[in-house]
Amino acid sequence: MLCLENTQNRCSGAVMTPEETKAVCDVAHDAGVPVHLDGARIFNASVSLEVPVIELTRDVDTMSFCLSKALSCPVGSVLVGTKEFITEAARWRKMVGGGMRQAGILAAAGLVALDTMVDRLAEDHQNARRLAQGLANIDGLTLDADSIQTNIVIFAVEAEVGTAPNFIKAMGEAGVQVSYPGERSVRMVTHRHISSEDVEETLSRTSSVVRELRAA
Ligand SMILES: Cc1ncc(COP(=O)(O)O)c(C=O)c1O
Repeated sequence: MLCLENTQNRCSGAVMTPEETKAVCDVAHDAGVPVHLDGARIFNASVSLEVPVIELTRDVDTMSFCLSKALSCPVGSVLVGTKEFITEAARWRKMVGGGMRQAGILAAAGLVALDTMVDRLAEDHQNARRLAQGLANIDGLTLDADSIQTNIVIFAVEAEVGTAPNFIKAMGEAGVQVSYPGERSVRMVTHRHISSEDVEETLSRTSSVVRELRAA
């Protein structure tokens, strides 16, 4: 099996276009290999590219997407495939103890997410771009702000600022939660609860933290 991811978490939320998806699927299918799409953030890709989700999924055999994350649902992911595949997946889910009774109340929140949370993702993308531009202007941090396509901003902490874990600790003390995918890299994510004012506040606090760390 070949597994694709759209958007790509560790590549700053980069999107795969319908053409790229099809090209990879064609090669896999010619070799008799099925393709699964990890579409945890597929709606971000769809909104960013301004193409319907079906354009990004029609060439894959199976896919999953998250109702939480960008769509802001309290919990939930959805597996998508043929009826036969889903029947088999449900059997496996039960075998490994993943069955859930009375899950309808959670599914209801998922329907609200799908109906009301997709279009507003453009706002998260705009906030992420503004965040990236601001971070790129802080001496001691490195990123290519123009490369940000969705809601994930990954940037590098330069040696004079210290290691990413130290930077993250200082940011936490300043009230900004960030995570780190690597020794030098840091990840920030925008979502429904992060407003444009929050972005400005984050930039201001980040700038102070970096200044203090560089002076230390
Ligand atoms: C790209 C990606 N795929 C899949 C998952 C798993 O999602 P879930 O825990 O809802 O199954 C995550 C999140 O943790 C993710 O970031």
